[in-house]
Amino acid sequence: MTANLRQAGIVDVTTGSGVTITEPVNLYGCALGDGVFVGPFVEIQKQVSIGARTRIQSHSFICEFVTIGSDCFVGHGVMFINDTFASGGPARGDRTKWRATNIGDGVSIGSNATIMPVSICDGVVIGAGAVVTRDIKEPGIYAGNPARKLRALP
Ligand SMILES: CC(C)(COP(=O)(O)OP(=O)(O)OC[C@H]1O[C@@H](n2cnc3c(N)ncnc32)[C@H](O)[C@@H]1OP(=O)(O)O)[C@@H](O)C(=O)NCCC(=O)NCCS
Repeated sequence: MTANLRQAGIVDVTTGSGVTITEPVNLYGCALGDGVFVGPFVEIQKQVSIGARTRIQSHSFICEFVTIGSDCFVGHGVMFINDTFASGGPARGDRTKWRATNIGDGVSIGSNATIMPVSICDGVVIGAGAVVTRDIKEPGIYAGNPARKLRALP
């Protein structure tokens, strides 16, 4: 076999106290706050920061330029995006074309949601399968593609 093999693993990860990580995962260069939970088959790339007590469920992908606050819930198979193909195709590693995502505190993201590079304020619920394409600036429940506000929080 002539393929260039790379190993998944846990490399250069900063962890607070009481962090749980369920292997197999691919985590590198990221920071996990106190009490963070990471389920299996998750990838978290470098410079990602995840706040205290946030849970990342299995099969989610959290790319560079993403910051997630504390007490959040990231459901199964949630995909974050930093390369929007804005210039007609993939940026092919040109970070100057990547954009950031900021998730506030107490944000719950339903399974299989896709989060484009946006900011989401504190206290937001994102429905399963939603595609979030615009900043969310007020608390509430949002769902659909593109995600729209369903209702305020109770
Ligand atoms: C978005 C969500 C929070 C809304 O819950 P709710 O407020 O109880 O909403 P309802 O079930 O009353 O539905 C209200 C409307 O929104 C629609 N809706 C609900 N969830 C939706 C979703 N994920 N995407 C698109 N539309 C959705 C419903 O079809 C309904 O539409 P209608 O009024 O035209 O019939 C919930 O449906 C959801 O997606 N939760 C995510 C759960 C999850 O992924 N958990 C992960 C851990 S297992």
